Amino acid sequence: MTLRHLTSINDLTNNEIERVFSLAEKFLAERGDPATHYRIGRSTDSCAGYIMATLFYEPSTRTRLSFESAMSRLGGSVISSADPAASSVAKGETLADTARVVSAYADIMVLRHPREGAAKFAAQYASVPIINGGDGAHEHPTQTLCDLFAIRREKGRLDRLNVAILGDLKGSRTIHSLVNGLARFGANIILMPAPGMDLPDHFVAEIKQRCHYWPIEGVRFKGATGAYGPQGRSLSCPHPQIDVLYLTRFQKERWPATTGDYPVVNAEFLTSKPFEQTLVLHPLPRVNELDPDFDSDPRAGYFRQASYGVAIRMALISMLLNARSESALERFATGFPDHSADDVTPSALSCSNLNCITRAEGKPRFRASGSRSALKHCTYCDHETP
Ligand code: NCD
Repeated sequence: MTLRHLTSINDLTNNEIERVFSLAEKFLAERGDPATHYRIGRSTDSCAGYIMATLFYEPSTRTRLSFESAMSRLGGSVISSADPAASSVAKGETLADTARVVSAYADIMVLRHPREGAAKFAAQYASVPIINGGDGAHEHPTQTLCDLFAIRREKGRLDRLNVAILGDLKGSRTIHSLVNGLARFGANIILMPAPGMDLPDHFVAEIKQRCHYWPIEGVRFKGATGAYGPQGRSLSCPHPQIDVLYLTRFQKERWPATTGDYPVVNAEFLTSKPFEQTLVLHPLPRVNELDPDFDSDPRAGYFRQASYGVAIRMALISMLLNARSESALERFATGFPDHSADDVTPSALSCSNLNCITRAEGKPRFRASGSRSALKHCTYCDHETP
């Protein structure tokens, strides 16, 4: 893959993420709405002549519309397929064929798909950059760019912040990409899963490569099991300040309804001392887990977080497109990420994840699973198969 895609947050280096943020800041400074500090209010023509395709095979409001708004603000145009029932998917067309065909119609593609690993799979067949707009319960890297940008902009940094993550850690793709991004930028991560909704093992294994784990005992955060923080640092403070609280809805489309208690965040939940200065973020949509009465509280950051999506996606689109242009001002280097550890030939073994894209399209591929050598790591969905 010499083309740059964004299928996982790990497809970008920290330096590249910083450059996306700098360009987003530049768009906000130069094209921002003078009345607010987070809304893009004017357009440029820097991507004039380029076409972006948005292929959304699952419901979306923010991701699709902010991508389309971003491309329009850049002077480019958009073609969209937002209803699988009205596209050739309904006739049984494979994702591989769709990716090949749409590559001839657009210069960049944003894909949302119910199967895990779909974006990376499509990238094997596309001849233009693919952006993952959410693949099943796997990852949502552009939401993570918005989340990290919101945190850094509003809290001034990412390193050494205490970020509590609450709700459906099992099914929330936004959380799966976010924990990784937070670990990479040196934040402390306090996991507060709803009952039975723990972070899947393969994501825990990934954070553990960078972080130490501290069981939380003396501190009474609902559901908190422990905290991860960069190695060599102590998390000894018995009542840490929570700098950011990130919560998500129960992902009811991914799991059968559970009987457990789902947390509800409201003014009462946030009365204790550790939450005095907490920035509350949510990727939205919210259902019942975040009280609308809290919206007017200065700690509520979720609508600004959603607004940042346009500037962030403008930066990302420009950088991915300019990677292919001679006149690039801002571009990603080619050659990253390094996929040389991936088996190049399809495996005879099936991925153990029934919702992996390879369960629908075939051609499973694996790489050896780091420290856990008895396991094979799926190249597409990251699940581990014995
Ligand atoms: C999220 C998603 O689609 O994963 N929404 C979004 O893109 N902002 C979160 C969710 O649906 O709960």
